[in-house]
Amino acid sequence: MAGDVTLSRGQWSTQFGFILAAAGSAVGLGNIWKFPYITGVYGGGAFVLVYLGCVLAVGLPLMIAELIIGRRAQQNPVGAFQKLHKPGSQWQIAGWLGVASGFIILSFYSVVAGWAIAYLFKSIVGFSGTSAEIQGQFGNLIGNAWASIGWHTLFMAMTIGIVLGGVRKGIERWAKILMPALIILLLGLACYGLFTTDGGAQALTFLFEPDFSKLSAEGFLSALGHAFFTLSLGMGAMITYGSYMDRKAHIIRDAVVISLLDTVIALLAGVAIFSLVFAYGLEPSQGPGLIFQTLPVLFADIGPWVSVPFFVLLSFAALSSSISLLEVVVSYFIDKRGWGRAKATIIMGFLIYLLGLLCATASITVPFRGKSQGFLDIFDFITTNYMLPIGGLLTCLFLAWIVNEKVIKEEFGSSGNLYKLTMFTLRFITPIAVLMVLLHGLEWLPFMDYVN
Ligand code: PHE
Repeated sequence: MAGDVTLSRGQWSTQFGFILAAAGSAVGLGNIWKFPYITGVYGGGAFVLVYLGCVLAVGLPLMIAELIIGRRAQQNPVGAFQKLHKPGSQWQIAGWLGVASGFIILSFYSVVAGWAIAYLFKSIVGFSGTSAEIQGQFGNLIGNAWASIGWHTLFMAMTIGIVLGGVRKGIERWAKILMPALIILLLGLACYGLFTTDGGAQALTFLFEPDFSKLSAEGFLSALGHAFFTLSLGMGAMITYGSYMDRKAHIIRDAVVISLLDTVIALLAGVAIFSLVFAYGLEPSQGPGLIFQTLPVLFADIGPWVSVPFFVLLSFAALSSSISLLEVVVSYFIDKRGWGRAKATIIMGFLIYLLGLLCATASITVPFRGKSQGFLDIFDFITTNYMLPIGGLLTCLFLAWIVNEKVIKEEFGSSGNLYKLTMFTLRFITPIAVLMVLLHGLEWLPFMDYVN
């Protein structure tokens, strides 16, 4: 096959290395920044319960599907769909969509991650002033394009540097350091919140005691959408990481471990953040500013010994996710265009960096869905609501209905009840659930009230 350089492809050096790298992709701004804030917005426990259900019914089966496709094809997302169907197959569109999603998501992800690094430096100096002043710092940062661009530049340079190192020396080595550090830091922060502040008990009630009267249909669907984003699904990241997987690795077990790690880390972040929010009598439904505006007010009282680890951790988590976003794009140019890793990483990284400049400049706005919006919000909206669900839907339909069952059984490692349950879910439950998210993104669900 043209440009097929399977033999020179990288491979994870250990199975543990793969799990850490894939969990590193999943765990990111989605867990630490987005999960707590949307849980706050949608009312707590009931939302968390539905989200957990979505991880089980949609996330886990789709992760299994992506890993099977990747490992079997040993290809980037575009090549993988062709290889498991036929050369020139129309299904490669799903792979293309994935490469495009990786490109666009990274352009804005890097800007938000840049803010996390900016806050890391701010917290070393220490937060001070009135709470209004501290909250205002966030507006100053995002309003100052040069500052945002500077941090975006630094973050993209770090991402490119790691991906340049390749599968083993770059991604895996870093994930081995970043992931355990992250878990230890988060555990420490969650324990701090639970045992040393008086908001711990309230945080647990808020997160784990479902009150279904607070759960709207929209909350249900948002939980489903978030399951996609947080598990890095629907854009071929897991297809790409699966393509570097060892033949002997156990896909089902690994998918369970990755999903579980991702979920536990989101919940730990929730416990840590909400303990502080309640201890200081703040509003849980703050929205996206929860980390960058609310927490620094608390950090000003507590001191850098909590805020520095927090932002170190947020930057680490973002970095191990951004690596996977760039790797999807890079692997396509290596596999299908025969480019060297250095060329693919530098050229594509630079182009993504340029697109990110638009997202970092909040003053550039265009009319979108009836209001004037910045590129960061527009890109986030398009990828989360359209591109990931479409990519995920196609991936799941492809594996469940197109790929030869013999191949799936071989990759699955058994054809018992677990196999039957997974296939039933992938054939019926997952596509229907995903279709609902998609229609919701288009505001086309008949039973919802869309008031604009
Ligand atoms: N899962 C990452 C997070 O939660 C984001 C991501 C999405 C990474 C898609 C790769 C692919 O932050």
